[in-house]
Formats: sequence, structure tokens, C-alpha cells
Amino acid sequence: MWNQRYTVDEYIYGTEPNSFLAEHAKKLVSPVLSLAEGEGRNAVFLADLGLEVHGIDGSEVGLTKAQALALAKGVKIQTEVADLEMFAPEANYYGSVISIFAHLPSAIRHKLYPLVERCLKPGGIILLEAYTENQLAYNTGGPKDSDMLMTKAKIEREFPNCEPILLRELEREVCEGKYHTGLASVVQFIGKKKS
Ligand SMILES: C[S@@+](CC[C@H](N)C(=O)[O-])C[C@H]1O[C@@H](n2cnc3c(N)ncnc32)[C@H](O)[C@@H]1O
Repeated sequence: MWNQRYTVDEYIYGTEPNSFLAEHAKKLVSPVLSLAEGEGRNAVFLADLGLEVHGIDGSEVGLTKAQALALAKGVKIQTEVADLEMFAPEANYYGSVISIFAHLPSAIRHKLYPLVERCLKPGGIILLEAYTENQLAYNTGGPKDSDMLMTKAKIEREFPNCEPILLRELEREVCEGKYHTGLASVVQFIGKKKS
């Protein structure tokens, strides 16, 4: 599905970074693991700030576009095609992890998120933005499946080893490509791995 969606010339989520990420990027430390990086807009932005970024996505087409964007912007990013259901990042390795609109079924999250916490160094940062379950009432993007949508409570439950620095649900205007446009209900999280 994702390869098909990405097989167009345009960058369907745009080439500008996610605005929540851009606002808080200075909190991130290398190396940065980007879950479900897609077409590269976030990885390229972070690389341009001097961060070392490792972007994972299941779509080969998306990551090929990510590398093309990196080349066009004159930065280097590392990309890896992988299914997050099977993905096991190295323990105690990353300074930061980002997850931007990476909506996954709970069965995958429950396997992946403990590994995400494990892959962070103590004090490492996770930054996540996702649509909430309230987004089902909007027609402005995201999966139509509440199991794949997030809430503050799910984040608190699923990242028990990360102390929230910021955790909020809000409505905001999202303008990030043709599939993510309009007033939306999102949850934003920045957590610090407990020592
Ligand atoms: C809505 S897009 C977001 C892309 C990017 N994070 C952004 O904000 O531009 C969701 C991404 O999740 C990826 N994805 C979904 N399920 C996945 C899985 N099981 N393993 C790896 N990637 C997955 C898709 O390929 C797609 O690139």
C-alpha cells in the first residue's frame, strides 16, 4: 500500500519537516532513530542541523525518495527498509528516537516500544506526534482504526521507562502534504529515558 502511495513524483507529505519536530529539534541528540521515516522530510531536516539520522521504513519507494531528497539538500542520511514488526534496534545506542505519524497496530507497538526504550541511552529523548482516537471524527488524515491511533493514556502505558517532558493532546491545523491537511486531533510527546 505504501509503495503504491509513494509512487508519484511529488512528496505526498511534503519536503518540510513536521512542525512539532521542527519546534523541538534542538532537544535531540545523535544518533537519531526515525521510525517510519517515509519520504525523508524529517530525516533530511535533522541531518541539515548536523544530526546523524537512521531512518527506518517498510517502503523501499519512500526511502528511495528520502535519499533523493537528501542528495538534493546536500546532506547524508542512513536509511534501512525494514518492517517495524521485526525491527530490533541496538540496545543503549541512540541519543534520540522520533516517531512522526507512525501509526502502528497495538500488536506491533507492544513488541516495538519496549525495544525503542531499550535502544535509547539513559537520558535519551523520544519525540512522537500521532493522531488521537478523536481523529476518527475528522476527515483530515490518519488511519480509520482506533487501535492504530494514540492517546495520552496509551503513551503513558506504552513508554513506562520514559519520563514525560511534554505530553499533551490538542487540536491543531496540520499542513503536511496532501494526506495530512486540516484541523486535526493529535497527541504530542517528548519523553526522557529514565536512568
Ligand atoms: C503517514 S506515513 C508518515 C511518514 C513520515 N513519518 C512523515 O511524517 O512524513 C506512515 C509511514 O509508516 C510506514 N509504515 C507503516 N507500517 C510500517 C511497518 N510495519 N514497518 C515499517 N514502516 C511502516 C509507511 O511505509 C509510511 O512511510
